Amino acid sequence: MTTGCIILAGGAGTRMKSEKPKVLCEVLKKPMLGWVMNAAEDFGFDVTAVVTGYKSELTEEYVKSRGDFPTYLQTEQNGTGDAVKRAAEVAEQTDLVCVLCGDAPFIDGDTLRGSFELHKKSGASVTVITAEVKNPSGYGRIIRENGIFSAIREQKDCSPEEAEICEVNSGAYWFDSKALLTALPKLSTQNAAGEYYLTDCIELIGNAFAYKSENPDIVLGANTRRGLFELNETARQKVLYGLMEQGVEFLTLDGVIISPDAKIGCDTVILPNTVILGNTVIGTGCRIGANSHIEDCTVGNNVKLNNVQAYSSVIEDNVSAGPFVQLRPGTVIRRGVKIGDFVEIKNSDIGENTAVAHLTYLGDSDVGRGVNFGCGCVTANYDGINKFRTEIGDHAFIGCNTNLIAPVKVGENATTAAGSTITKPVPPNSLAVERGAVRIIENWEKNFKRKRKI
Ligand code: UD1
Ligand code: CA
Repeated sequence: MTTGCIILAGGAGTRMKSEKPKVLCEVLKKPMLGWVMNAAEDFGFDVTAVVTGYKSELTEEYVKSRGDFPTYLQTEQNGTGDAVKRAAEVAEQTDLVCVLCGDAPFIDGDTLRGSFELHKKSGASVTVITAEVKNPSGYGRIIRENGIFSAIREQKDCSPEEAEICEVNSGAYWFDSKALLTALPKLSTQNAAGEYYLTDCIELIGNAFAYKSENPDIVLGANTRRGLFELNETARQKVLYGLMEQGVEFLTLDGVIISPDAKIGCDTVILPNTVILGNTVIGTGCRIGANSHIEDCTVGNNVKLNNVQAYSSVIEDNVSAGPFVQLRPGTVIRRGVKIGDFVEIKNSDIGENTAVAHLTYLGDSDVGRGVNFGCGCVTANYDGINKFRTEIGDHAFIGCNTNLIAPVKVGENATTAAGSTITKPVPPNSLAVERGAVRIIENWEKNFKRKRKI
């Protein structure tokens, strides 16, 4: 039996007041559409397609960034039924079609599997995933006649009694492809919104089942910024409590935001105001924070990051960094490295046990092991036109306020004298000194003219 998935992502989401399509609005810094695509990926459909519409180029771009998924353009947003019609090809190619809403991010693989099993077992032609929600607002209500599921009524079209029903449509459904293809041309716009409602397919097809999920969150969607905030808060807590179950420690959850895709080992402590995003992986026994932002990084075990901003970098075991450190993309910090205050490192490889203790910029550099940087060192990697690399051998000693003008190489076990600007290769084991001689003027007149407060 072949399965297809159609994710509806064409709506504008006017109430979100955003320049982008609603499905690209983010929950824990991941577009809502991305969450839904993850659920589809988890289930493993034979085909997963996305219907785009409002600002389709932005949605297309995101979909393409996730892989090679077919997209169908809905030129006018005439409703969910019309959106599915655009992707009817998916139903022509498969036996069963699952329709998902790109703006309901908490649908998950387990719910899709459970409803798929029920759909097959029950022999229904359409199965709607539903949930009980307290005081539902904006959702289609599940209408039963003599206990038998007969229709979905949109809130706008509900009688006052129907509006009291708490079992609602999640916007996720399984359709027998043939039944769906027969129903779609029969949809009409005779309703309060004047749109083609996909939900009318229930009455048109008949033989419908409801799969009621135990988890009411799966229906949650966001139509406004407030709704989006609430989704973020729900997701945030779910992620943090999930991490606690895996042995991650939090002293408080204040200001802590962690991506659902991040992985963190046991006995790692996350301190306040720490944001961990993207596909970050953090090992065991680390202390991350306070006030740190770690995005798409791989962090080893026993690492301490205090007030660190790190992006697309690798930080190996036993590194300590901070406070006020920025690690920019392409950086590898090897085992046991110590990075102190006000240090920026970009696109560089810093060898084992090297110390970069204070006020230093390293860009486009390959640094060996056991190197010591004094305070205030700079690799001058950019001449305004091109970028160049700096190479520093094992156990070199880079004196305070050294400027290394790239491309340049400092050999193994060499020293640069404090205050030197190095423009040529420094051979291994040598000392490079670049300094004007010190001139002494004894009893200098101005020393006696300065005002003294005490
Ligand atoms: C829809 C359901 C409602 C359900 C709710 C769950 C209908 C008629 N109603 O309502 O029963 O409780 O979802 O969240 O289906 N879209 C398009 N093209 C369009 C219109 C919408 O692609 O022309 C997409 C949207 O981008 C969105 C999804 O379809 O991802 C749902 O559309 P939306 O307008 O948000 O429907 P709801 O009013 O929430
Ligand atoms: Ca919606």
